[in-house]
Amino acid sequence: MKETSVLCLLFLISLLSCKTNRARLTVSPSSSQLFKGDFVSLSCEEDDSSAGWTLRRNTSKRQRTQCGSTWGKPAGSSCNITLMIPQDSGVYWCESREGPISNMVNLTVTGGSVILQSPVLPVMEGDDVTLLCKTKTTPSNLPAAFYKDGSLIRKQPTGHMTIQHVSRSDEGLYKCD
Ligand SMILES: *[C@@H]1O[C@H](CO)[C@@H](O)[C@H](O)[C@H]1NC(C)=O
Ligand SMILES: *[C@@H]1O[C@H](CO)[C@@H](O)[C@H](O)[C@H]1NC(C)=O
Ligand SMILES: *[C@@H]1O[C@H](CO)[C@@H](O)[C@H](O)[C@H]1NC(C)=O
Repeated sequence: MKETSVLCLLFLISLLSCKTNRARLTVSPSSSQLFKGDFVSLSCEEDDSSAGWTLRRNTSKRQRTQCGSTWGKPAGSSCNITLMIPQDSGVYWCESREGPISNMVNLTVTGGSVILQSPVLPVMEGDDVTLLCKTKTTPSNLPAAFYKDGSLIRKQPTGHMTIQHVSRSDEGLYKCD
């Protein structure tokens, strides 16, 4: 098998109809898959007050740890992680003292050389979603093949693919090589 196809990674797109009367966790850059060494900024945003939201995460090693404890650097209502490592992979969420929690975001950090970059969940029905097959070392304009649930769906000369007006029928496991 060619090296590139060995290194392809899976990504799950899931559509949620989302009621937002609570905090929302946003991730910048908006990607669930990151390269080792990437910078990421996570923000707890909400409509009304800005009272006491804490960013927490579960990784395979430790649960419910808070930004600023053993990882991350608090920056106002954000948390910056400067050099992501594979051990930072896990589920992240914002939590208030009163209990309510935000959406959860899975971040996966790879030491490999190819990722499929896609927006952080949730994707809203009707949105246009662009998937980018990205390599660590070269500019992201290499030809790429995109697969959904194991079947080839598109070959794109520029390495990115836009799904227009996504709907539930677009849910699935996507990968690229
Ligand atoms: C995080 O870990 C705790 C303790 O194991 C568990 O109760 C909680 O459901 C986990 N949260 C998420 C979002 O996975
Ligand atoms: C956190 O990241 C944001 C966005 O890149 C930046 O503006 C801010 O200066 C950073 N803060 C710290 C404390 O690193
Ligand atoms: C995060 O990943 C876990 C394990 O793969 C999965 O069970 C969960 O549904 C994911 N959560 C989100 C919000 O994508």
